[in-house]
Amino acid sequence: MIKNNYFSIKFFDDKLSFLDQTKLPLVEDYVETDDFDRIAEAIERLEVRGAPLIGVAAAYGLALSIKNIPADALRRTFYLAYQRLLSTRPTAVNLFYSLNELKNVFEENKDSENLYDLLIERAKKIHKEDTEMCEKIAQNGLKIFKKKSNVLTHCNTGKLATAGGGTAFYVIQKGYEHNLINKVYADETRPLLQGSRLTAFELHKAGIPFAIQTDSTAAVLMQQNQIDLVIVGADRIALNGDTANKIGTYNLAISCNYHNIPFYVAAPSTTIDRNIPAGNEIDIEYRNKNEVLSIGDMQIAHVEYEAFSPAFDVTPSHLISGIITDEDLFLFPYNFIR
Ligand code: MRU
Repeated sequence: MIKNNYFSIKFFDDKLSFLDQTKLPLVEDYVETDDFDRIAEAIERLEVRGAPLIGVAAAYGLALSIKNIPADALRRTFYLAYQRLLSTRPTAVNLFYSLNELKNVFEENKDSENLYDLLIERAKKIHKEDTEMCEKIAQNGLKIFKKKSNVLTHCNTGKLATAGGGTAFYVIQKGYEHNLINKVYADETRPLLQGSRLTAFELHKAGIPFAIQTDSTAAVLMQQNQIDLVIVGADRIALNGDTANKIGTYNLAISCNYHNIPFYVAAPSTTIDRNIPAGNEIDIEYRNKNEVLSIGDMQIAHVEYEAFSPAFDVTPSHLISGIITDEDLFLFPYNFIR
């Protein structure tokens, strides 16, 4: 019997519990903390990861930063925590959305005796909204299946990456429940293996048939007519639909275009950055080169070698067949402002 009772994040008794995703799939270890700096560290280390989940965790972290802080130190403490959390990861826009929501609550209620409670309330609302958006994404995503399909996905976009059922993963799961999925092909997703460690873990728990392949196998699978469609998540979507997602997503979109295979993005509307017209303005995170020079704890190349380690790439919108959000299934050319 597979136990499907894991969770990515929980807020209870003024503490945040999160599953340390760096230890998955071998160890399911939950960390409990009320320290905003520990939450910032968890985001940096990818113990907590995935654009929507980063946003929710950061909101709780910022609210917790002023718990039991005397009135004369509130502003300084809040803005130090705000800056610390803001600097954890640059690409996922959900982080900035959440922190700014809390900043607005702080400024509107700075003299209130209930400031901490009001911030926690807003964090809980962001949490709940993310859960609800996942449901709507999954529902809207059912429109993309024309027949029972083999689907390829990249990185991890399930319960582990959100506060709900997921984005691209949840579309796949709902598709499976509606008998619209044969099999899922999960890219392993180098360098940090979110596909083979996390997506496979979630597919297994959900009882969905799957195989893991190296990222470079995707084009061959397409050439052999094994893939009917590709669905991925997003870290930031520009107003024209250009989409930043885990490194390797752009390669997939190009391969889909060449093989005439639909390529879909699924994301909550909080992942759309309404301040940037196009993807060239998206700040791409570069991670420590040792993540490329090693796999887990094992060094696979000399530490002194140069390595190139962007965490994300930007797929131009003309390569994206559709963007599934909680609001609708949008088709190219994208117009998110209604
Ligand atoms: O570096 P990560 O693991 O945080 O990257 C995650 C992704 O790229 C996901 O595809 C994206 O955040 C969408 S999660 C619903």
